[in-house]
Amino acid sequence: MTKISPSLLAADFCRLDRELDKITAVGAEWLHLDVMDGVFVPNISFGIPVIQSLRKISKLTFDVHLMIQEPLAYVDAFADAGADFLTFHLESGSDPQKTIEAIHARGMKAGISIKPGTPAEAVLPYLPQVELVLVMSVEPGFGGQKFMPSCLDKIRAIRAASDTVEISVDGGINGMTGALCREAGASVLVAGSYVFGAKDPAEAIASLR
Ligand code: DX5
Ligand code: ZN
Repeated sequence: MTKISPSLLAADFCRLDRELDKITAVGAEWLHLDVMDGVFVPNISFGIPVIQSLRKISKLTFDVHLMIQEPLAYVDAFADAGADFLTFHLESGSDPQKTIEAIHARGMKAGISIKPGTPAEAVLPYLPQVELVLVMSVEPGFGGQKFMPSCLDKIRAIRAASDTVEISVDGGINGMTGALCREAGASVLVAGSYVFGAKDPAEAIASLR
């Protein structure tokens, strides 16, 4: 079954504990945590202390999406904070091979992400080594943007190359775009505004499966 990873970026930051309770109660398996440094993307979100605090109150799978320059330098800090999956961008300046090895050495699962302008072929050499590929369906940096259908061919190409890797899609996911991604081969759907902004989050999550 498709795993749903609600993106914390769209939550009410005054009430993170309640927000986590809410999505846990309606059956989300993962929590997507967007870390932005104002350099790799033109926005700043939250970082290590927030993840560390939430780890104490949640058993959800922490799916950390690093939108930062030089992610290799921060692998240990995110391991200590309690990340389960640590995903970095292929475009972010650290050597991908070394970064994957550092993530595994700390007992986390490794993810590699590509922006809309990066072709699927760029991640294919890393498929045997990573547990997850995160295909961006918007330019990274902000929630609430419109889904780019060009991600669907990339999902198909990655799925054709691996039956087992988790393929996650991030940006503009709702009931309709989520179905397109599932048909293309995605196994994880990241959804921010669609889940946290929903009147009925249970219904939103059900419509994504
Ligand atoms: C964007 C982030 C996304 C974002 C998705 O850079 O990586 O995870 O929170 O938000 P929605 O689902 O609202 O497009
Ligand atoms: Zn994200």
